This record gives sequence, C-alpha cells and structure tokens, in this order.
Amino acid sequence: MHFIKVTLLAMIAFFLSVKLSLAHPGFHFGWGDHHRGISFGLSPQFYQFSCPQANDIVMSVLEKAIAKDMRIAASLLRLHFHDCFVQGCDASILLEDSARIVSEKNSGPNKNSVRGFEVIDKIKSKLEEACPQTVSCADILALAARGSTVLSGGPNWELPLGRRDSKTASLSDSNKNIPPPNATIENLVTFFKRQGLDEVDLVALSGAHTIGVARCVTFKQRLYNQKGNNQPDENLEKSFYFDLKTMCPKSGGDNFISPLDFGSPRMFDNTYFKLILRGKGLLNSDEVLLMGNVKETRELVKKYAQDESLFFEQFAMSMIKMGNLRPLTGFNGEVRKNCRRVN
Ligand code: HEM
Ligand SMILES: *[C@@H]1O[C@H](CO)[C@@H](O)[C@H](O)[C@H]1NC(C)=O
Repeated sequence: MHFIKVTLLAMIAFFLSVKLSLAHPGFHFGWGDHHRGISFGLSPQFYQFSCPQANDIVMSVLEKAIAKDMRIAASLLRLHFHDCFVQGCDASILLEDSARIVSEKNSGPNKNSVRGFEVIDKIKSKLEEACPQTVSCADILALAARGSTVLSGGPNWELPLGRRDSKTASLSDSNKNIPPPNATIENLVTFFKRQGLDEVDLVALSGAHTIGVARCVTFKQRLYNQKGNNQPDENLEKSFYFDLKTMCPKSGGDNFISPLDFGSPRMFDNTYFKLILRGKGLLNSDEVLLMGNVKETRELVKKYAQDESLFFEQFAMSMIKMGNLRPLTGFNGEVRKNCRRVN
C-alpha cells in the first residue's frame, strides 16, 4: 500500500515536471537547490531545445577573436571570475554606468584592467540573431570562460547553464570581494571562503594565471618595497627579479605588462605551478600559495606542478563550483538583450 502511494506520487511529480518544462522550454525543474518548493537548478541541457547551437556560436566568435588577439582568452576567463565573486555569476560586471547603475567596471580591481567586453557583445549579437532573448549574458560569460580555456589547450567540462542576468551591479562588493594581488595567504583563503570556495579551489583556480598578463603596478611592491623596508621580496628568484625590474621601474611604467606565466604565456598548462616552485611566480598572491604558511596550498602547488592532469581535473571541478555561485534562476533576474544594460 505504502509502496503504491510512493510510486503514484513519484509518477505525478514526473508528469508535472514534464508538463512544466514543456510549458516553459528552457526552464529546468531539477532536484537542485530549493526555492519555495520548486527548484530551478542549472543544467548542461538548459538550451537543448531553446538554442542548441549556443555553444557553437560562442566558440566560432572566440576562435576569431583569439586568432586576432591571443590575450582575449585570458581576459574572458578572468571576466567570469570577476563576475562570480560579486553578487554571484549574474553578469553584473557587464553593466555600464546609467541612471540606476553604478558600474563595477570602475572598481579598483577592474579599472584599466578587465577587458574583452567587445567579444561578449559580438557573441551576444550573434545569439540574439539565432535565438532572440534566450541565452543570458551570465551564461555567455561562463561559456566564454570554458571556451577560452579549451582553445588555449586546457581542460573541457560539462557546463551547467540557466543563469539569468542581474538588474543591479555593486561597485562596493566589487571593491570588497575580489582579492588584491598583494594579498597574504590568509587573506586569499578568507576571500575564497567567503564565496564558499576552499583551499583546493583557491590553488586550482589560481592556475588560470597560466595564461594572460599583469600590469607592473600589480607586482611593483614585490620589486621595491615588499614589507615597507624598501627591499624586494626575498622569495623572488634573482634573475627573474632583475628581468622584472628592467620592465617595471620604481616610478612610472604602471601599465607595462608582463606575462603571468612567462614560460608558456599563451598555453593553458601547469607551467604556472612549476614557475612558482622556482621563485618565478609573478604576483605575491601566486607566490604565497607556496611560501605562505598554509600547508595545504603549499602541497597542492607541488602536486599540480608534478601532475598536469590532476591540475586539469581539479580546475574543471573548481570552475563548475565557481560558476554555480549564487546564480539568478527561474523568475529572478532577466535575459538582457544588450549585456551592457538592463532591459
Ligand atoms: C587568487 C586570487 C587572485 C588574484 C589576487 C588575482 C589577481 C590578478 C591580477 C592583479 C591580475 C592582473 C590584472 C592587471 O594587471 O590589470 C590578474 C590577471 C588574470 N587573472 Fe587573476 N587573480 C586571482 C585569481 C584568479 C582566478 C580565480 C582566475 C580565473 C579563474 C583568474 C584569472 C586571471 C587571468 C586569466 C588573468 C590575465 C588577464 C588578461 O591577460 O587580461 N585570476 N589576476
Ligand atoms: C597592498 O597594497 C595596498 C595598496 O597599494 C596597500 O595599501 C596595502 O598595505 C598592501 N598590503 C600589504 C599586505 O602589503
């Protein structure tokens, strides 16, 4: 008797969910995190019926953009990070200043630094042609981050989709939540914990610094005044230190750039970790993963330096975890027509 009741209930639940997903193509009623009884989880199949070619469109725009400017891959990967750490992965970083919006683009970590917005616009306009008002800007950022990783030689992963776009941005959270390059290991762990990410995520995701560049101003302190004593960071390998000084002078030159992984700056690989082991990590935040006094991160740097596939596997898992930070789903938020402004 009890068994029949349970079976019946399960069947009703199943038919109800089929009916609901037919009524709202593109909506996914999973058994994920619950919101007033019904759950709107992210799902890799989210655009299966509403825009099956979404990822192909993203990839074809990315291929052209990266052929023109290799750094675009790095810039897009970073955009997703800076989006997710502020109000969750809701494309808040893409909003421009307007009557109601104070743009995150002018925060300390973003100003004169984040880039790639034209590529996001290009992807959005192609997607609007193919599937009007269907694919959110937040999902475009997640797809572009994955595609950029893959096209740079890094791992692929099944990407949960169905994020919706915010109608707000937060300049103050952008200033508060994105870790600075001179952070201590304790700071870094705290910034990540605040987002529900742990030491493993911190080290794996820092591995994104296997591609891209940083401006002189973001590592100058290490060269000239690491601890307020006018001395360089003693952990910097000497020849690397002298090279960095020639292109990052004590005064001026703030916007001169250096590769984060000079060994293979365009290739997504584990050279970043190998360089850290040799005192050749560019940012303080890179070096302290090894030289800070947290045993777990230190051990992970060594492991990823030794075993690239272990790094790739964990990077993929941590990207999924970061991509799932507080998404807007269901009836929350909207699908913007133009990623730079609310509808
Ligand atoms: C762990 C804390 C982190 C700190 C302190 C940090 C800091 C920075 C800084 C200062 C830059 C250079 C910005 C500039 O010169 O204007 C940078 C670049 C970059 N970051 Fe991070 N980052 C962190 C984590 C991450 C994560 C989690 C990702 C992605 C998963 C990421 C991806 C990148 C990429 C790809 C670049 C190069 C961007 C380009 O060339 O345009 N970073 N990061
Ligand atoms: C990091 O840099 C900022 C800005 O230059 C500075 O105010 C702060 O004291 C530095 N923090 C550390 C730990 O050196």
